[in-house]
Amino acid sequence: MPDNKVIKITDNVSWVGVLDRDIVTFDVVMETKYGTSYNSYFIDAARKTVVETVKEKFWDTYLAKLKQVVVPEEIEYIVVNHTEPDHSGCLSRLLEIAPRARVVGSGNAIRYLRDLLGFEFPHLIVKDGQTLDLGKLTLQFVAAANLHWPDSIMTYLQEEKLLFTCDIFGEHYCNEGMFDDVVGDFDDAFRYYFDVIMKPYSKFMLQAIDRIRPLEIAAVLPGHGAVLRKNWKKYVDLSEKYAKEALNSQQANRVFLGYVSAYQNTGTIAGMIAQGIKEAGEIDVDLCDIEKMDHGTIEKKISQASAILLGCPTFSQNILMPVYQVFALINPIRDRNKPAAAFGSYGWSGEGAKIMTSAMSNLKLRVLDDGLMIKFTPHHDMQEKCIEYGRKFGRFMLDRK
Ligand SMILES: Cc1cc2nc3c(=O)[nH]c(=O)nc-3n(C[C@H](O)[C@H](O)[C@H](O)COP(=O)(O)O)c2cc1C
Ligand SMILES: [Fe+2]
Ligand SMILES: [Fe+2]
Repeated sequence: MPDNKVIKITDNVSWVGVLDRDIVTFDVVMETKYGTSYNSYFIDAARKTVVETVKEKFWDTYLAKLKQVVVPEEIEYIVVNHTEPDHSGCLSRLLEIAPRARVVGSGNAIRYLRDLLGFEFPHLIVKDGQTLDLGKLTLQFVAAANLHWPDSIMTYLQEEKLLFTCDIFGEHYCNEGMFDDVVGDFDDAFRYYFDVIMKPYSKFMLQAIDRIRPLEIAAVLPGHGAVLRKNWKKYVDLSEKYAKEALNSQQANRVFLGYVSAYQNTGTIAGMIAQGIKEAGEIDVDLCDIEKMDHGTIEKKISQASAILLGCPTFSQNILMPVYQVFALINPIRDRNKPAAAFGSYGWSGEGAKIMTSAMSNLKLRVLDDGLMIKFTPHHDMQEKCIEYGRKFGRFMLDRK
């Protein structure tokens, strides 16, 4: 079935986005079992305006839809709320056929587009609160940086009370009904999108929601998934709730102590370090053998912890895959400056701690020292050394407050 549907949202605003049913993963990091949509909108004002484009591979479908509502040469503004290529992918080709168009976005958006497109283009940099007269209709720009790139903003069409939000309040969900009151229940897709894309930026989500609270809103028009014409408030409130939960879930004195161990030497060291940490003060220790733990669980534990300790034996002058995966789950925006340290058992060369502590520093954790490495099995005075290392780490955590 050809995707040629254009949907009127109000007299002056149409949805000209495309449906992507076949997508399996998005941005490498997330599953898209319901597919997705790339929502672009056309505002039929005296100065004809497009808000967002779509992913490049949908250019032909997109252009055909645009031509249903406008002669492309007549487009005067293209608002880019966020420059990620799932939304800006068709911009370059659109500019070729709309030479009068000026690209409207944040300073960061215009800078990023220069590098994405590789050429100069007419543009207008807008700031929070600034308005743009389209002739009888007026756009107002709302700051919303770091949701989820530094470039992001929202755009409010004053007369029609429509808020264009790109990734904010969106989800990967594909249904030609397009409206929230038509497409069925997409709450789990909304939650999953928030968790993967927006959650690390919860602080910024709350700031953005504060900014839109004073606006009178008829509908929220995101860049993916359902157009929120009926229940927009539910999804704004849910985003606020999820963001607050994420910010409150971090516990003040809780250490994530994750390790892997083939012969239980590193496991034994982990247990003794845990004992030492508890002796240092009121600290919760989340001691986990991570070898078979799923990523979602590990990520949640890391986000809830105020400190991170990782243990791994040295194997072939390297560390083991599950620990590398933990590094991929650390988010320096969320976890920055959390106290951290590394430990492990080794046989002869013992590179493990160095590899772990340098990764921890690169990920902007606050690393205690070079780490604790124990040759093979911790016997005799090595046991006290492990417990004392735990006490030292505990003091390091508590001193920072
Ligand atoms: C396949 C394999 C490769 C190893 N390579 C190294 C190595 O390159 N350098 C080193 O110091 N120890 C090496 N070792 C020794 C382990 O680090 C040592 O056996 C350690 O005690 C294992 O800790 P675990 O009981 O926590 O698994 C290796 C062990 C194995 C099984
Ligand atoms: Fe994005
Ligand atoms: Fe997106």
